[in-house]
Amino acid sequence: MVNPIIPILSFFFFVAFHPSPVYAIYNVVRLGAMPDGKTDSTQAFLSAWAAACSSVSPAMIYVPPGRYSLKQATFGGNCKNTDIMIRIDGTLVAPSDYTVLGSAGTWIRFEGVSGVTVNGGTLDGQGSALWACKAVSKGCPAGATTLTIVNSKNIVINGLSSVNSQMFHIVINGCENVFIQGVMVTASANSPNTDGIHVQLSTGITIMSSGIKTGDDCISIGPGTTNLWIEHVACGPGHGISIGSLAKDLEEEGVQNVTVKTAIFNGTQNGLRIKSWGRDSRGFVKDVLFTNIVMKNVYNPIIIDQNYCPRRENCPDQVSGVKISNVTYKDIQGTSATQVALKFDCSPKNPCEGIRLDDVKLTYLNQTAQSSCTNASGVAYGLVDPTSCF
Ligand SMILES: *[C@@H]1O[C@H](CO)[C@@H](O)[C@H](O)[C@H]1NC(C)=O
Ligand SMILES: *[C@@H]1O[C@H](CO)[C@@H](O)[C@H](O)[C@H]1NC(C)=O
Ligand SMILES: *[C@@H]1O[C@H](CO)[C@@H](O)[C@H](O)[C@H]1NC(C)=O
Ligand SMILES: *[C@@H]1O[C@H](CO)[C@@H](O)[C@H](O)[C@H]1NC(C)=O
Ligand SMILES: *[C@@H]1O[C@H](CO)[C@@H](O)[C@H](O)[C@H]1NC(C)=O
Repeated sequence: MVNPIIPILSFFFFVAFHPSPVYAIYNVVRLGAMPDGKTDSTQAFLSAWAAACSSVSPAMIYVPPGRYSLKQATFGGNCKNTDIMIRIDGTLVAPSDYTVLGSAGTWIRFEGVSGVTVNGGTLDGQGSALWACKAVSKGCPAGATTLTIVNSKNIVINGLSSVNSQMFHIVINGCENVFIQGVMVTASANSPNTDGIHVQLSTGITIMSSGIKTGDDCISIGPGTTNLWIEHVACGPGHGISIGSLAKDLEEEGVQNVTVKTAIFNGTQNGLRIKSWGRDSRGFVKDVLFTNIVMKNVYNPIIIDQNYCPRRENCPDQVSGVKISNVTYKDIQGTSATQVALKFDCSPKNPCEGIRLDDVKLTYLNQTAQSSCTNASGVAYGLVDPTSCF
């Protein structure tokens, strides 16, 4: 028998003799930031970053409790440091006047960095005035993504909250090895283009134990995403987890090896969606696994839509070039808010292949739901209800 004390003791010795690195601490308040929610503190944050970035030993940027007003800020610049911890005990607030960020595209941006950890904190995009503008006028600025991480690697985002982003909440673009955990995204159900987490042109991204309530996709997965792992996510309100929109461009990188495991969708427009414009493209989607999913009153629980062409602009009567293959739906249960719970509307030029349904049970008003297939082939295993249409 293994003595249970030994692993416990060795844990204590590990903790005692492997202390976390000693960080040089840069406190933004000491560098001039004001926790009053009004005074522009951008320069203090940039100073803290410059100091941490140019140091060769582990550095911590510390943001004490309070509200800090920040304008557009880019943290980048060929750092010497590959161990920068940003510990946020407060809230960073975007300018309340949405014309300040206007169409800057990004609010807080990390570019070309390696070895950065963000621990805790709240990012308040103050987007509601811009959403209200967009609801009544076409002349509003586009707004800004709250947190953008671009061309970076070895990033951890842990325990961060993002509320009321003007546009997307978090964008991961051109990155490698990003670990997102315990993130909470909150925006109103009718806020436009407020996707929770968007990933594209990136590999080795993990999204764990996160909750997303927003007005657009909870997680959107763009071209060039490979080795993406999503686990323990709650979505709703929102538009679901979506691979796409793809086929925006003819030359487009594919999406490969995506896993979504243990997720709940509550009252969302979609659950698990793959979507491409009805346009020619060399893109593809393959090797996708959706497993252990609960749907609660979801409008399109399982949907592949390859004939997306809103307002018939830029794509009328075209077919999607995107090839979708090897997509598995395993252990999916719950309720659909519409009669068609399974919909595979694939490309007439490039039919979907290798779709697997394995233990799927979705009901509509306590009755049997329906499935619909166009240009899709695959197999069904175990109990599949509604009956598959392959
Ligand atoms: C698929 O991605 C996961 C991470 O999400 C990774 O562990 C695994 O090795 C990848 N599989 C292949 C075949 O690359
Ligand atoms: C689903 O959303 C409704 C309405 O927002 C809420 O009352 C309910 O508690 C949620 N259910 C779950 C399981 O999260
Ligand atoms: C299908 O995708 C799964 C990942 O979901 C992968 O493990 C498997 O190897 C793929 N099958 C083929 C035939 O490529
Ligand atoms: C796609 O489906 C349509 C309608 O069922 C059918 O006429 C067409 O032959 C299919 N395309 C391919 C490539 O199988
Ligand atoms: C479905 O059935 C359950 C239990 O049998 C019942 O409580 C519920 O009201 C029914 N829902 C609808 C929409 O009929």
